[in-house]
Amino acid sequence: MTFKPAKWPRRLRSQEWFGGTSKDAIYHRSWMKNQGLPADLLDGRPVIGICNTWSELTPCNAHLRDLAERVKFGVYEAGGFPVEFPVFSPSESTLRPTAMMYRNLCAMDVEEAIRGKCIDGVVLLAGCDKTTPALLMGAASVDLPAIMVSGGPMLNGHFKGERIGSGTHLWKFSEAVRAGEMTAEEFVEAEASMSRSAGSCNTMGTASTMASMAEALGMALSGNAAIPAVDSRRRVMAHVTGRRIVDMVKDDLKPSDIMTKDAFENAIRTNGAIGGSTNAVVHLLAMAGRVGIDLTLDDWDRCGRDVPTIVNLMPSGKYLMEEFFYAGGLPVVIKRLGEAGMLHKDALTVSGKGIWDEVKDVQNWNEDVILPVEKALTQSGGVAVLRGNLAPNGAVLKPSAATPDLMTHRGRAVVFEDIDDYKARINDDDLDIDETCVMVLKNCGPRGYPGMAEVGNMGLPPKLLKKGISDMVRISDARMSGTAFGTVVLHTAPEAAVGGPLAVVRDGDMIELDVAARRLHLDITDAELAARLAEWSAEKSGANPRPASGYAQLYHDRVTGADTGADFDFLIGCRGNAVGKEAH
Ligand code: FES
Repeated sequence: MTFKPAKWPRRLRSQEWFGGTSKDAIYHRSWMKNQGLPADLLDGRPVIGICNTWSELTPCNAHLRDLAERVKFGVYEAGGFPVEFPVFSPSESTLRPTAMMYRNLCAMDVEEAIRGKCIDGVVLLAGCDKTTPALLMGAASVDLPAIMVSGGPMLNGHFKGERIGSGTHLWKFSEAVRAGEMTAEEFVEAEASMSRSAGSCNTMGTASTMASMAEALGMALSGNAAIPAVDSRRRVMAHVTGRRIVDMVKDDLKPSDIMTKDAFENAIRTNGAIGGSTNAVVHLLAMAGRVGIDLTLDDWDRCGRDVPTIVNLMPSGKYLMEEFFYAGGLPVVIKRLGEAGMLHKDALTVSGKGIWDEVKDVQNWNEDVILPVEKALTQSGGVAVLRGNLAPNGAVLKPSAATPDLMTHRGRAVVFEDIDDYKARINDDDLDIDETCVMVLKNCGPRGYPGMAEVGNMGLPPKLLKKGISDMVRISDARMSGTAFGTVVLHTAPEAAVGGPLAVVRDGDMIELDVAARRLHLDITDAELAARLAEWSAEKSGANPRPASGYAQLYHDRVTGADTGADFDFLIGCRGNAVGKEAH
């Protein structure tokens, strides 16, 4: 922790717009004053942007206008001037083809908005899965002082006396309906029971994982991740964050000071301890790229490998975010990592202190929610990174969500060429498949779907569900919802749509999975694999034609592989906060 605060007072960036008596300064001030602003708000105090992903079409973020008001209280109290602005809001639950296809669009919007606007620092308001990484990516590429407030999770779901979690029970009930164990009417009845309040998914899905990653990286105040959206303390978090960003501007404390390699390693270990979403892999790789940190899939395996999963939350465990908050939340987990020698304790946070200072005095209030290490859900909870001739650039699997007996497995491939092929055949009782087979799904990677859909946990064939089979080995280049579970190999790279080995797997091939050895192997000779790959071409495969125009074409042409974060190649790196020519 070598950060040295800047001198204060000093002339701020916003004064390039508002300072002086030039025609441009008067132009900028005068138009702002049409909102009824006293002159002294533009007199050199820190101007704080509130970057808001509020949208009624992003239901998980629909309460963020309220939180923005609380941020403003804090900014005013600390002597700053808050200004709220909207950015594109990718919603996991309503956006097609995938919210992931729009993460980079949101990040680009955020970056350009922060850089182009007359602000000195920014509060990032996010909640739903992609909004958190998108805002952190955009802010990192500008590198003005930035701090995140999450929207917080929904309250617990309850249905027929059972605790039910966002997403996790959607998958479970959907399988139950297909297995004939639940009626369609009951499924519809459960719908309203799952989403009882404002907020993001209440499981340790991607939204809660990414909120935890923001906190573990040091980009949000300690305790931010778990406070329920409707708890009054969520408003307090927004309020004190508003106060804090003003001081961060005075100190010139920037994302590049906080998002260091140590911070990313802390986040990776935290992900293992919480049983976090595999989506964190692509998002952290992309964020690291924005601040020029050399983070790779191997770092995920190296740092996460021996981390026990101690947070007993769905989808890996039994509780939900509400109980996690009551138990003490993420600070307790980070403290445990520190005690186990798995934390870079000096890693700087937005508070200006090292992360250990923030957590060393917290207490665990429920040892059934945040488990002692000896009772961990799994002793090796980090994301396993697999390699082999089927995934030369890597693939990932979440051990805490997998079936232990399937982690070493050899089986016959049943191949689906794309998601439409899967949907067309999976319910067919004549499909030649049994529980020992390996289901293979192609063309669902970043370029393939497009946007790397969360379909990797493809549902099992009904005829096997009816036999009581609840898990099989599945392999794809897709992602999986953070709320989902199963022995599912994801993010296989290179993806099928660019001619990775996954593209040439055929029905009947034998596939070997050995998670302990980190191995994923297609059991054909090297010569046979080379011949199949030489024969393959995007045109011949007929999958994923280049879109004729628009954002979809840009995405197709410039998205990178899952193993490097699926960012746009031209967005990697930090471009700073300098703006071009004046608009007038
Ligand atoms: Fe938005 Fe889960 S769908 S957080």
